[in-house]
Amino acid sequence: MFITMKKNYNFFIRHFLVLGLFAWLLSACQPKTEHGKFTNNLMAKMTIEEKIAQLNLVTPTSKTGPFATKNVLEKLKEGTAGNVYSIMGSPEFIHERVSLADSTRLKIPFLNGLDIIHGYKTVFPIPLGLSCSWDSVLIEKTARVAAIEGSAVGYNWTFSPMVDITRDPRWGRVMEGAGEDPYLGSIIARAMIKGYQGDDLSNPSSLMACVKHMGMYGASEAGRDYNTTDMSRLTMYQNYLPPYKAAIDAGVGSIMTSFNDIDGVPATANKWLLTDLLRKEWGFKGFVVSDYNCIQELIAHGVAANYKQAAELSINAGLDMDMASESIVASLKESIGEGKVSMKQLDNACRRILEAKYKLGLFEDPYRNYDPKRAEKVILSDNHKLLAREATCKSMVLLKNDNNVLPLNNESRIALIGPFANVKNQMFSMWAFRGETDSVVTILNGLKKQSSKVTYAEGSFVTNEPVFLKKSRAYYNEEEQKEMLANALDLAKKSDVIVAVLGEAMNMSGEAKSKTDISIPDCQRELLKKLKATGKPVVLVLINGRPLILLDDLQYADAIIEAWRPGTMAGDAVADVLFGKYNPSGKLTMTFPRSVGQIPIYYNHKNTGRPYVDGQRGGLMKFKSYYLDELNAPLFPFGYGLSYTSFEYGDIVLSDTLLIGNDKALEAKFSITNTGKYAGEETVQLYLNDLVASVARPVKELKKFIYNLENQKN
Ligand code: BGC
Repeated sequence: MFITMKKNYNFFIRHFLVLGLFAWLLSACQPKTEHGKFTNNLMAKMTIEEKIAQLNLVTPTSKTGPFATKNVLEKLKEGTAGNVYSIMGSPEFIHERVSLADSTRLKIPFLNGLDIIHGYKTVFPIPLGLSCSWDSVLIEKTARVAAIEGSAVGYNWTFSPMVDITRDPRWGRVMEGAGEDPYLGSIIARAMIKGYQGDDLSNPSSLMACVKHMGMYGASEAGRDYNTTDMSRLTMYQNYLPPYKAAIDAGVGSIMTSFNDIDGVPATANKWLLTDLLRKEWGFKGFVVSDYNCIQELIAHGVAANYKQAAELSINAGLDMDMASESIVASLKESIGEGKVSMKQLDNACRRILEAKYKLGLFEDPYRNYDPKRAEKVILSDNHKLLAREATCKSMVLLKNDNNVLPLNNESRIALIGPFANVKNQMFSMWAFRGETDSVVTILNGLKKQSSKVTYAEGSFVTNEPVFLKKSRAYYNEEEQKEMLANALDLAKKSDVIVAVLGEAMNMSGEAKSKTDISIPDCQRELLKKLKATGKPVVLVLINGRPLILLDDLQYADAIIEAWRPGTMAGDAVADVLFGKYNPSGKLTMTFPRSVGQIPIYYNHKNTGRPYVDGQRGGLMKFKSYYLDELNAPLFPFGYGLSYTSFEYGDIVLSDTLLIGNDKALEAKFSITNTGKYAGEETVQLYLNDLVASVARPVKELKKFIYNLENQKN
């Protein structure tokens, strides 16, 4: 009896345990979160076609890529595309299109994306310019304003920030990022995500951010866009990956892949990148979208034979959404049927996208942010313009100021000359295509508001470079150029000081805008030389999207202000700086080379076994790491930027001579004194150099900074 009972008892225990385990597993697999439960319920109702549609992102325009999607409206209406980007027009126009979701069976709202890169209607300086402020609080505010304006017209997703580390100014996209330093880049990435997404994605004034381009896109070989990248894991982890990781830690909702390959495998189909690193190592929970047509482009890369295989490779690598190529929507059902992609992969991708929509509050109210009245109130509001003016002032970098030519006295007669002095659209970049051009304060207008003694002449065409003229259909005429030059010189001779506003056209930097010659176009340089020859002091204000080669131009300018592409408040901010209402405090975040031959050039390089310090040539210096025909040093290094005042740093006192152990802190104390005539702000930068380590370390690494340390004059 006892034995039988024991047997039965064992039988029950065993079954009970099995059942218990099953129940536990079942409950463990059940989503615990509200969004998890919601998406599971929704997905249970979805057909395979409806799930696939969620992975499809279409566009009605070819504004930022090689083609537009055909029949977009039909696709949105019939429900074969679950998301859309670059719908551009009035709030009502945008709303009408995104309301097409209501005509689909399950009425699942669309993600409605746009590249809001440096402002929506109120345009801030390009990201590279903004980064020169080193002011993450300010940068966060600019992203917040972009979200407030963009969300009010109905967008819920922005393809920003771009956090690609850039060391090669030939690459036109350097203007979109924060420059060459991973530490500063990470801080700025966090700030922008916080600005766009706010504390709560479902807030009607939040936009979901999309960090891009994962990964290492900034290292496109030879600075040629879309080119291959090749680097060691050490360099990746040390220099290129930190800003993407910082974005994930800051809770970014989505990630965009890059066009390039990494170790021979294009990012969009790179399992190491999208699954091992992103999901397993970093724990990213959002979704991954390809860049424009990247899935189709796997064929040209030579890793897929056709679009079906390309889609399979991407999904199996961990990609969730297809931007523009429509390969997934065209082939995934078949691939699942053939067992080449599992239903689980599709479910995972679909779930991540639906969860993003849930977090954005779209299931509660798909049009929660669309509010034409709010749009009217907030877009280009005085507060937004004020912030833009501050941001533009803080992004400018004073590169040279011989004999304290600057600040200008507004009693001086100023000859304002140059092709960028009296234009509005050129104050933007190619990525500010929704910016309100009419609202731009031109540099001429800005100066006139602060001085009655300004005269203006255009002086030159933007460019006379035949290749550029052909490719961009720009206009140039020799006779007119001569006439413009003569007028400008006339004006210059009658002035006390010349302000020359020169640089690059808007379409000379940005995507697919790589250049091998990155100096100011010839016809403008000619103008600069002639202006200098008048004997009047020349202040050069640069409008451009990348570090330029300025070595020769230096001698023709007494002062240089790098104003980047300054945005809506260009004129007011340039005037503030020129007249000393704002004392420039920007510091470069990308190195300015002396010559193209030095590129790639960046401050945090390693030392080599045969280091060379410029100026040490001679017999004993043979077989060192240098150029025969050029210095090693750049023209202007990372972190460089002058002020109208001067600062004196006292000696640094360290709290210890040894730093051993991860949890130890080292305190550095120093005094800083404003020794000049003006109140000013200084960004204090702390660099470290690990002298003896198991791998070679950079000669200098930024580890800490305090921006805009305000200093009253003595
Ligand atoms: C760019 C992305 C951009 C996308 C959508 C692509 O060509 O590389 O940065 O977000 O277009 O406009």
